[in-house]
Amino acid sequence: MKHLVSVTDLSHEEVLRLFEVAAELKAGRKAGHVTAPLAGRALALIFEKPSLRTRVTFEVGTVQLGGRAVYLAAGEVGLGTRESVPDVARNLSLWVDGIVARVNRHDTVVSLARHANVPVFNALSDHEHPCQALADYFTLWERGLDFSRARIAWIGDGNNVCHSLLLMGALLGASLTAACPAGYEPSPEVQASVRAKGARLDLTHDPRAAAAGADVLYTDVWTSMGQEGERARRLEAFQGYQINEALVRLARPTAVVMHCLPAHRGEEITDAVLDGPQSVVLDQAENRLHAQKAVIKEFIGDR
Ligand code: CP
Ligand code: NVA
Repeated sequence: MKHLVSVTDLSHEEVLRLFEVAAELKAGRKAGHVTAPLAGRALALIFEKPSLRTRVTFEVGTVQLGGRAVYLAAGEVGLGTRESVPDVARNLSLWVDGIVARVNRHDTVVSLARHANVPVFNALSDHEHPCQALADYFTLWERGLDFSRARIAWIGDGNNVCHSLLLMGALLGASLTAACPAGYEPSPEVQASVRAKGARLDLTHDPRAAAAGADVLYTDVWTSMGQEGERARRLEAFQGYQINEALVRLARPTAVVMHCLPAHRGEEITDAVLDGPQSVVLDQAENRLHAQKAVIKEFIGDR
C-alpha cells in the first residue's frame, strides 16, 4: 500500500515519474483527449480546514480521470470525536479507492494511512503539504530549471509548506536557504531529514541574504490555518520578511516568485510582486490539478 502522507514517502525516481505523468495528462487534457483510469472508482475527501485549490483540484481531477469524489466536511465525520480515526479509515476503505485528508494534526493523517486499506493522500496537515510541493516542483521542472544548480530561497514562516518544499528540494538535489525569524524556523526533524539527503540547507534571519542570487523566492502566509490566535504576535515577528520589489531585485534576473496561495496581500508579499512578471503563482495553482491527477492515476488508477 502506497500513501502520500509526507514527501519522504516518495523517491527521487517516483517524483520524476509523477512529473512525466503530470505533463502527459496536462498535454492530453489541452488536446481534448479523454482518459478514464478511475472509471467506476471513488475518492473520499475529508477536510477539517477550509480549502479552495486543494478541494477543487482533487474533485475535478478525479472526475477528469473518470472517477467520482465524495466530499466530507469535518463536522460530518467528526474525525476522532464522533468516531475514532482508525474506525473511519477502516470503514472508508470498504467503499472508496482512496482517501484525501486535510487535517488539523499531522498524527491524524498518519493514523488514517496506518489503518486504511486504500491509499491516503495528505491534502495539508500542520506539518506538511506534499501535494503542494509536487505541483511547485512540477512548475519549475516544466520551466526547465536544473535542480542540481538551483538555489531555492524560502522567506517567512518555517511552516507546513516550507517543510514539504525543503524535503522535495533535497530529494531533487537543489540548494536550499530558509530566512525565518528566530523561533519560526523549519522543524529540527525536517532540517535533519534534508541534510541527511546530502542537501545544502542554510538558515538565516536575513531575508536579503537569502534572496541574493536565488533562482526561486517562495513565501506563504505568516499565520497559517489554526494559528489565528497568534496573528498579532506573528505580524510583529515577521516584519522585514515581506517579498517586495526591492527583495526580488536581489535575486537572479531570471528568478521566479512562488506562493502556494491564499496570500495575505500586503503582508508576506506585495501586490506588485504577486501580480508581477516574475510571479508563477497561477502556474502553481493550475499545476495542482495536473500533479494530483498524476498521483491519483499512479497510486490508484493502475492498481
Ligand atoms: N494552496 C492550497 O492548498 O490552497 P487551498 O488551501 O485553497 O487548498
Ligand atoms: N501554511 C498555510 C498553507 C495554506 C495552503 C496554512 O496551513 O494555512
